[in-house]
Amino acid sequence: MERTLSIIKPDAVAKNVIGKIIDRFETNGLRVAAIKKLQLSRDDAAKFYEVHRERPFFNDLIDYMTSGPVVVMVLEGENAVAKNRELMGATDPKEAAPGTIRADFAESIEANAVHGSDSLENAQKEIAFFFAQREIL
Ligand code: CMP
Repeated sequence: MERTLSIIKPDAVAKNVIGKIIDRFETNGLRVAAIKKLQLSRDDAAKFYEVHRERPFFNDLIDYMTSGPVVVMVLEGENAVAKNRELMGATDPKEAAPGTIRADFAESIEANAVHGSDSLENAQKEIAFFFAQREIL
């Protein structure tokens, strides 16, 4: 049993597809162990995406992630990190396999509907960034 962090990004929240995206997770064996809707401050977003600070798209990424509310979730299940990434599809929706969340809901490589932790180690850090232990059930 693993836990991973999922973010439904501002483009998908604005499109009112929170429920449709959560349904993909639940239908495929993942459980929502924690959930909240919030709007990231620039400071929050910069800390969360610290590893991308030197990338040319960093400032645009921060602008975008703070442009509207997001939904953050802890997903739990067998192989949750890999399963979530499989359900999301490739970062660039043009390359995402048919039937994946990004193929069906994302607009662009930046407005790509969802974020998911890329490893178990990062999942633990990302979960701790958003949730206290007592909020994960
Ligand atoms: P995410 O999984 O949230 O992790 C970092 C984000 O940066 C990524 O999804 C994309 O939204 C964004 N990103 C990655 N590569 C690019 C790129 N080449 N141009 C713009 N945004 C990018």
